[in-house]
Amino acid sequence: MATLNVKINNLQLQNPVMTASGTFGYGLEFADLVPLDRLGAIIVKGTTLEPREGNDYPRMAETASGMLNCVGLQNKGVDYFCRNIYPQLRDIGTHMIVNVSGSSPETYAECAARIDELDRIPAIELNISCPNVRQGGMAFGVTCEGAASVVRAVRARYHKTLIVKLSPNVTNVADIARACEAEGADSVSLINTLMGMAIDIEHRRPKLSIGTGGLSGPAVKPVALRMVWQVARAVKIPVVGLGGIMTAQDAVEFLMAGATAIEIGTANFIDPTVTIKVIDGLNAWLDAHGCRSVSEIIGALED
Ligand SMILES: Cc1cc2nc3c(=O)[nH]c(=O)nc-3n(C[C@H](O)[C@H](O)[C@H](O)COP(=O)(O)O)c2cc1C
Repeated sequence: MATLNVKINNLQLQNPVMTASGTFGYGLEFADLVPLDRLGAIIVKGTTLEPREGNDYPRMAETASGMLNCVGLQNKGVDYFCRNIYPQLRDIGTHMIVNVSGSSPETYAECAARIDELDRIPAIELNISCPNVRQGGMAFGVTCEGAASVVRAVRARYHKTLIVKLSPNVTNVADIARACEAEGADSVSLINTLMGMAIDIEHRRPKLSIGTGGLSGPAVKPVALRMVWQVARAVKIPVVGLGGIMTAQDAVEFLMAGATAIEIGTANFIDPTVTIKVIDGLNAWLDAHGCRSVSEIIGALED
């Protein structure tokens, strides 16, 4: 069997397969179905400094080969996480990574600082697709300055592995990735959801309560793959790829495009055991192709 272990900064993963934030709860919800200790890591729900109610319903709409959501980062806040959720996660048997969101550089940094104190959380993933309240709600991650401002504030207060999750709703994702790297990000992950919309034509209304939402699932895979490939050529830090991964073959594509690890999101809603199937499938694919280590295919795309 091929070895699957990979490294993101000083975070050693037993395999490159992680769960994407917002699609796997805190992992505990899946414990009866999935041997959690086999996962590379679990990236938990978006966590903010203060509790958030999220958006009104409906928050989800199905589309061709994908789904739209506008959940709006519903969560009980970082203090609740530290007090009530973290104690349950301590012995889960794999790495737990917290996805951190905010509305200003200060709220991101304060939330990250609280998580820095939790000895069993070796990394955070910074969701910079959140609206900047001081700038009319434009997402931090759509400009180099906005992205840099968040990474700078967090880097000053967070000392473990810092993964910055990039927005695909930009003109040049490589520039944003470089801006994050320059401010001290240890890794970048991409993509978050693509802005989209669906309309209920009988009622002449958007299908989602706030009009627009984030598109995910197989429909976004070609866009995600292109962006991962562009970013992997632009930065020296490890890249984590996601967006529409459903199978081990999809994962191999992302790895060949230059991703060191991958995340699986929407596919968990269709098959809660998909992560394990991708790990086993990756192993089988590597064996069938005479590879002794997954590192042999990372960035191995031929020009
Ligand atoms: C219901 C839902 C909730 C999500 N919540 C978050 C979140 O809290 N933080 C975040 O960074 N990304 C969040 N995402 C984005 C996913 O983590 C992922 O980037 C995206 O769905 C693309 O991957 P996929 O096509 O494999 O789902 C969410 C996605 C969905 C579908």
